[in-house]
Amino acid sequence: MVSLSSLSRLIFFLLLTFLHFCNSQNTTKDYLRLRLLHKNPFSSPTQALSFDTHRLSVLFSALQDHKTFKSPVISGASTSSGQYFVELRLGTPQQSLLLVADTGSDLVWVKCSACKNCSNHSPGSAFFARHSSTFSPHHCYDSHCRLVPHPKPGSVCNRTRLHSPCRYEYSYADGSLTTGFFSKETTTLNSSSGKEAKLRNLAFGCGFRIIGPSVTGASFNGAQGVMGLGRGSISFPSQLGRRFGNKFSYCLMDYTISPPPMSYLMIGGTGNEDIIKTHKMSFTPLQTNPFSPSFYYIGIKSVTVNGRKLPINPSVWSVDESGNGGTVIDSGTTLTFLSEPAYRQVLAAFRRRVKLPIADEPTPGFDLCVNVSGVLRPSLPKLSFRLARNSVFSPPSRNYFIETAERIMCLAIQPVNTGSGFSVLGNLMQQGFLLEFDKDRSRFGFSRRGCALP
Ligand SMILES: *[C@@H]1O[C@H](CO)[C@@H](O)[C@H](O)[C@H]1NC(C)=O
Ligand SMILES: *[C@@H]1O[C@H](CO)[C@@H](O)[C@H](O)[C@H]1NC(C)=O
Ligand SMILES: *[C@@H]1O[C@H](CO)[C@@H](O)[C@H](O)[C@H]1NC(C)=O
Ligand SMILES: *[C@@H]1O[C@H](CO)[C@@H](O)[C@H](O)[C@H]1NC(C)=O
Ligand SMILES: *[C@@H]1O[C@H](CO)[C@@H](O)[C@H](O)[C@H]1NC(C)=O
Repeated sequence: MVSLSSLSRLIFFLLLTFLHFCNSQNTTKDYLRLRLLHKNPFSSPTQALSFDTHRLSVLFSALQDHKTFKSPVISGASTSSGQYFVELRLGTPQQSLLLVADTGSDLVWVKCSACKNCSNHSPGSAFFARHSSTFSPHHCYDSHCRLVPHPKPGSVCNRTRLHSPCRYEYSYADGSLTTGFFSKETTTLNSSSGKEAKLRNLAFGCGFRIIGPSVTGASFNGAQGVMGLGRGSISFPSQLGRRFGNKFSYCLMDYTISPPPMSYLMIGGTGNEDIIKTHKMSFTPLQTNPFSPSFYYIGIKSVTVNGRKLPINPSVWSVDESGNGGTVIDSGTTLTFLSEPAYRQVLAAFRRRVKLPIADEPTPGFDLCVNVSGVLRPSLPKLSFRLARNSVFSPPSRNYFIETAERIMCLAIQPVNTGSGFSVLGNLMQQGFLLEFDKDRSRFGFSRRGCALP
């Protein structure tokens, strides 16, 4: 039995030795730039709410599983309802695949096919491992293999056998799962200086069996895998961190604008001092929850509506000793979810302050909807969050009011009813901000002015 501390030391050691790059030029200011494509799988906000509810139940039970099994590799198996996608170019010659970008999980995995002659498969429908000269599964005895969960009951690892691949299994709370070989491969990425960067030995799950609603079907939206952007050591930004800087950032542009502007995911050195100054970036510490090391937690201190601080007990925002509570920034949830006592206060304040007429008919799933017909520029109450270290996150009202029907706007915030869970700032609330997740400095930065970048 490996103790937790020796395992974490092992992981640290592995991180230091994880990546070997073909190209060793000085790229401290260079960063990788990946286009984020938005595909909305929802025909209505009510449907978005039902996808969110499913995702949160999976995220919350990943947290509970982690508490039960106390294994550093269980967390991260969260979920993947797809809305933001990145293109990953994998293999030699490169194959292009579309992955769900997910800040709620760590593993990078793609659907793999073992076809020898794949000419009757459409390109991009899976990664054709046998068509790549640089693909190789990790050996089951390889130390990397300890970074992923294995199928149960585990297959015996035969150290002396040459071909004894590292098998992984990621199972999601709703029974969805992906299993296959934990492997390494070359990936080709675009850097900010316009050059292509080839990175060898990206560790990823080559999934031969992929079943269940979280990883197939409508919520997956035609993707071939997940790019885990979580905080764990096997996530995509953690693996690339040594070369490009241990941070990543993104800008989610308002996708209701037509044509929708391009959103980007940037890995590495965007947070240099010039950019921070130019874009007046604000920061708050990233908090850690030992029970869910993959998630990005921030600390909310108070909430104001139209400048008035709401009487919410500060303990509502903290992570308790059993790992419940706190607030997570998540790219895969659309709406924002606040713990019940905070939600009640926010709703009551909005009801008091809103000047527009309440809609005649209720919208299922939404507690406050206003009728803006005939109002050119509807004025809605101003919400803001005061965060730890006194930065203030003040989103525009379109980040928390959505149009659910013609000229009907509903408050896009929901209560978290269960005692075991956390509050979530979803992707709608994040729109229009440059958001930076800086793991070395353990801080989260945001700027209203950074999205004209790069
Ligand atoms: C890389 O360049 C930066 C300045 O751009 C410099 O401070 C640093 O020492 C260089 N590092 C190496 C390894 O050359
Ligand atoms: C691959 O399959 C196609 C059609 O299925 C066939 O025409 C082609 O000859 C095959 N190539 C090889 C190398 O077997
Ligand atoms: C491991 O593999 C070697 C070579 O294939 C074989 O000789 C040996 O019996 C195997 N050991 C076990 C325990 O299966
Ligand atoms: C990389 O950059 C080139 C040229 O700027 C562009 O055509 C291509 O689509 C980019 N690829 C990705 C995966 O972003
Ligand atoms: C919204 O207001 C308009 C004009 O006052 C009215 O015709 C319409 O029925 C209202 N719709 C709802 C759902 O309240």
